[in-house]
Amino acid sequence: MKRIGLLTSGGDAPGMNAAIRAVVRTAIYFGMEVYGIERGYAGLMDDIVIKQEMRSVSNIVQCGGTKLRTARCLEMLTKEGQEKAVKTLEKHGIEGLVVIGGDGSFRGAKVLSEQYGVPTIGIPGTIDNDLQYTDYTLGFDTAVNTCLDIINKLRDTMTSHERVSVVEVMGRHCGDIALYSGIASGAEIIVVPEISFDLENIVARINRSRANGKHSNIIVIAEGVMSAEQFAKKLQSITTHAVRPTCIGHVQRGGSPSMADRMLAAQFGNKAVRLLRDGIGNRAVGIHDNKIIDMDIIEAVSMKKKFNYQLYETLQMISM
Ligand code: F6P
Repeated sequence: MKRIGLLTSGGDAPGMNAAIRAVVRTAIYFGMEVYGIERGYAGLMDDIVIKQEMRSVSNIVQCGGTKLRTARCLEMLTKEGQEKAVKTLEKHGIEGLVVIGGDGSFRGAKVLSEQYGVPTIGIPGTIDNDLQYTDYTLGFDTAVNTCLDIINKLRDTMTSHERVSVVEVMGRHCGDIALYSGIASGAEIIVVPEISFDLENIVARINRSRANGKHSNIIVIAEGVMSAEQFAKKLQSITTHAVRPTCIGHVQRGGSPSMADRMLAAQFGNKAVRLLRDGIGNRAVGIHDNKIIDMDIIEAVSMKKKFNYQLYETLQMISM
């Protein structure tokens, strides 16, 4: 394969730039040409295709966001849109494609591979960590660290005022950002879409912790359950402790990627290009048991995400 394309799609995630750099530099190392498609699949509709050079990816390893920019492209869900995408690839002589994005982006990649025969490699780039086939997605670690920084600050002020903080984190339908930031911040309670909650139990848990000498409580709630504001209102109606909601929002999607995300980006990007160089397409790269893996992209998108109940129980035991 002599010429490949690269795009980032869906919600951006810290580490996408580092992955772009790894793809471009690995491809150049192997004597391949790389074309960056701006604004994700939308760039394929509008033919925004730009040749990448060694120096086009200088000084981006440390930057959040994506230099190729990104979009959620509804047109890619239609047959006309998909045909347009394939035409653009053909026009530029692009023989294989690397797609960095979440499960929606992988579905587009799956269509290109399955129905149009374009060898495509998926790199999981989303803060949500909602893809079952990989232990971690690119951006998740940085996003959780950003949440931790904010929760640490909330803990200070909540303790001074003896309040209960309800902190909303992202994740769409997946509770992983809430689970990991809850455990790592010492939150007393997490509320996630995978497990139903009982408000009375939560109040009992808060009261128990106060009786045991705690001066504040942190409840991390995943956006897939309800907003922090809605939850705080419900909770306030049945407790005398002062409750304050905070929504972390898009802050958790920005920022310089952590070491863990930069390492994933380097390895995912490198692996994706090696696969295409070897004439292998239609794979998704990931990490499992600390090893970089690749698997059939169709199988990867069809696996249902499993919640880690063991980690949830750990939180229940240690955060009192
Ligand atoms: O998929 C990443 C994500 O940040 C989700 O956690 C969140 O639900 C969604 O994107 C927000 O999307 P947007 O930035 O389009 O509002």
